[in-house]
Amino acid sequence: MIDIHTHIMDGIDDGIQTFDDACNVLIKLDQQGITGVFLTPHYAPQRGYQPLLETVKDKYKKLKAFIESEGLSLVVYLGCEYDASDDLDLVIPRHLTHNQTRYVLIDFMHYDGDANELIYTLKCLKYQVIVAHPERYDASMKRLLELKSEGALFQLNASSLLHKERRQEYQLAKRLIKHRLIDFVASDIHRATQSMDSLKRVHYVIKKMTDGDYADTLLKNNPKKLITPNDYD
Ligand SMILES: [Fe+2]
Repeated sequence: MIDIHTHIMDGIDDGIQTFDDACNVLIKLDQQGITGVFLTPHYAPQRGYQPLLETVKDKYKKLKAFIESEGLSLVVYLGCEYDASDDLDLVIPRHLTHNQTRYVLIDFMHYDGDANELIYTLKCLKYQVIVAHPERYDASMKRLLELKSEGALFQLNASSLLHKERRQEYQLAKRLIKHRLIDFVASDIHRATQSMDSLKRVHYVIKKMTDGDYADTLLKNNPKKLITPNDYD
């Protein structure tokens, strides 16, 4: 399985803060049989996250070197989680996509602009938008379907399906899965203390709700497309 959305890179956003914690998380994920992990620090200037490209690349290289020195099988890839904003058509070409493909992960939670227009603009520039955790937005199914019909792909957080007590998220996550409107499931890990088996557990839950092929599509086959540069072309 490949995790396409994490905040494991140390000290760059509201995720994991120390290099040691980042390394420990990578070891645990490797032990869980996770074969690939995208490091996707926030790019959200309005919330104070505007990492320099050089800083992100430098931290990526250090984590990659650790993985090699430990002989882990897991591979790390570089990516980004953007907060939606009207200037992304200018920002993205100067920053990062998922492993240099045309796929970009965008969180629309704090956005009050026209999401359809932003997705369309990026589509014209040949970017494929992946909407980060749509089940967490205060949006109707009808509104989410509009984003989908604009061509966006949807990434669900594993925790939304695993925590029934988060009622609203859980109900929407379940509906989205049952209607097969989700394209990726990822962990969105922020803390070293989180359980690291969420992808394994959610694969089982999705398999029960739908079938094994769909669970594999969301956690293995679709994520694989993000590690092949320019696959979207
Ligand atoms: Fe995130």
